[in-house]
Amino acid sequence: MEYVNLNGQLVRDADAKIHISDLGLRRGYGAFEFFRVLRGVPVFIEDHLDRFENSSRAIDLEVPYSRAELEGFVRELIRANNLQSAGIQLVLTGGYSEDIFTPGHPNLIIAPIALREYPPALYQQGVKVITHRHEREIPEAKTTAYLTAVKLGPRMKAEGAAEVIYHDGKWVTEGARSSLGFVKDGVLVTAKDGVLPGITRIHALRLAEQLMPVEHRAFTLDELYAADEVFITSSTRGVMPVTRIDDRLVGNGQVGPKVSALVKAFQAHVEEYVARHAAVDSRWSIANSQ
Ligand SMILES: Cc1ncc(COP(=O)(O)O)c(C=O)c1O
Repeated sequence: MEYVNLNGQLVRDADAKIHISDLGLRRGYGAFEFFRVLRGVPVFIEDHLDRFENSSRAIDLEVPYSRAELEGFVRELIRANNLQSAGIQLVLTGGYSEDIFTPGHPNLIIAPIALREYPPALYQQGVKVITHRHEREIPEAKTTAYLTAVKLGPRMKAEGAAEVIYHDGKWVTEGARSSLGFVKDGVLVTAKDGVLPGITRIHALRLAEQLMPVEHRAFTLDELYAADEVFITSSTRGVMPVTRIDDRLVGNGQVGPKVSALVKAFQAHVEEYVARHAAVDSRWSIANSQ
């Protein structure tokens, strides 16, 4: 990608430099956000900017730009790179720090990343996930703390898994980069708290409520293993069925009817959002490029 936005300025990717005293680098102190761009439309951008502000607040960083400015930077970046299908990451770091501990003025990075599409077959056949004992720090905030997730990448690959599911030895929370839910006896169950408020989960649950009862509550690893149907959700995957957890099959190992209906309903919901916003976004671009 040719351009990124660094501290409010559109700059060439090759020229986008941050000093080594930045607290994001030296202490892993930063807020993070990620969303998709589809046919030039930043999907659910309003929810993602809300969460970015909440995550920043949760680690006592103030976003040094207004909401309208942030949205403007994102749209300018989409235009400059002519993004059609991609991801966009926002990072707000603790800024430059003399003692490499006390936060300074935050640095803001907004950068596009290339995204690979997940093969449609995965949504028909489901994926395998593995489990790992880990508790995310400040779970309600999306931060740059992905140490365990990145470290588990090779293990995931070796085991043919699409995601790692975190638990504390008994209670299950979420995936390393996704939210999690399951269906048992026709009822959808997903965590109540202690997890990131996944934007995809929020949208998917609104659709799920039309299809089945939804319960927000804590649940155990044993309950997850005994589920009829399991799914994960994230901005890159949408709703993705899970048919294997560690070395066990979920139900009969096939994607079940409830999750299958939810996958389709969510895909249609995103399509409808993109179609609805494509016209509005092009008007916004014209108005702001003059
Ligand atoms: C820990 C965690 N939970 C859940 C999610 C899913 O969130 P969203 O649906 O907003 O992409 C992510 C996304 O990266 C995540 O990192």
